[in-house]
Amino acid sequence: MNRCLVTGAAGFVGSHLCEALLARGHEVVGVDAFIPYYPRAVKEQNLAGLLTHPHFTFHDTDLRVAELVPIVTKCDTVFHLAAMPGLMKSWTDFQLYETCNISGTQRLLEAARVVKIKQFIHISTSSVYGREATQGEDAPLQPVSPYGVTKLAAENLCRAYEANFNLPITILRYFSVYGPRQRPDMGYHKLINNLLRGGTFTVFGDGEQTRSNTYVGDAVAATILAFEKRAVTLGQVFNIGGGEIVSLNRVIAMLEEITGRKAPLEREPARPGDQRHTAANVEKARRVLGFNPTTRLAEGLRAQVEWQRAQA
Ligand SMILES: NC(=O)c1ccc[n+]([C@@H]2O[C@H](COP(=O)([O-])OP(=O)(O)OC[C@H]3O[C@@H](n4cnc5c(N)ncnc54)[C@H](O)[C@@H]3O)[C@@H](O)[C@H]2O)c1
Repeated sequence: MNRCLVTGAAGFVGSHLCEALLARGHEVVGVDAFIPYYPRAVKEQNLAGLLTHPHFTFHDTDLRVAELVPIVTKCDTVFHLAAMPGLMKSWTDFQLYETCNISGTQRLLEAARVVKIKQFIHISTSSVYGREATQGEDAPLQPVSPYGVTKLAAENLCRAYEANFNLPITILRYFSVYGPRQRPDMGYHKLINNLLRGGTFTVFGDGEQTRSNTYVGDAVAATILAFEKRAVTLGQVFNIGGGEIVSLNRVIAMLEEITGRKAPLEREPARPGDQRHTAANVEKARRVLGFNPTTRLAEGLRAQVEWQRAQA
């Protein structure tokens, strides 16, 4: 049994990761500051099942200001998911991205260094690549949004702590995650909401932009593989993406079929910082981690629709 610290534990992916670690018999310490990017009530709901688990403890703590050593000290592994996600707000509220994604990460790395943890798994994003994210992990890193810039800075901080203090780092770059508990600001969540409850969905660009859709259960499975195969993952960076790459227009058609409703659409020009094509090259994750995303897009979208249908 390991003692795992999960930052961003009340978030979309973090809450699923906590549940999966507990199910495997680990102790989990969750940290989240309920940053009001989307409502606290949604995050409290994500956490609800965890709070009653005997091997879960939770700290309502902000990585930017709290004393972190006492929290990290009892943990052997850190899963760092806490961040300000989403591209658009990063143009207008850069300070929030800068402080949460860069300063928060630096303070956590410093605590991990002091405590000498066994592994620091840093969750990054395909946005570090830039407009297109279709190649392997060695592709140039040229983010085109302030969000991507802060996430790349966080990766570089991890590298600096690794180079100078031998901090045992693994970096995972997730590609467009979807599924139950998807953040309400994300496209599929909004589209499903419009289909179920009315309202017009805005398509930015021609809708032919593609995404490497990653079911949240597959992203979590990859994250746990990176932890269980620590001996071969230290110092490494992996792309983590689902197997099905489809356009937004195709996803709209699939969701219309699943819900049996037609989405009223309006079209607007692509937004600054939007990625055009992401197609996760996960060859390295397959080879080194044995990662094999298993959830078909139709199945994963159906699960997300059912989850959103059940929301009040
Ligand atoms: N969802 C995706 O499609 C996706 C894709 C690529 C990468 N990622 C990365 O995965 C991670 C999780 O993303 P998510 O979609 O679950 O987002 P989320 O917003 O649902 O979860 C992140 C959580 O971190 C918390 N947090 C932020 N700053 C904090 C701070 N200073 N102190 C403590 N807690 C703080 C927030 O309150 C939030 O609950 C992020 O690092 C994100 O960059 C997500």
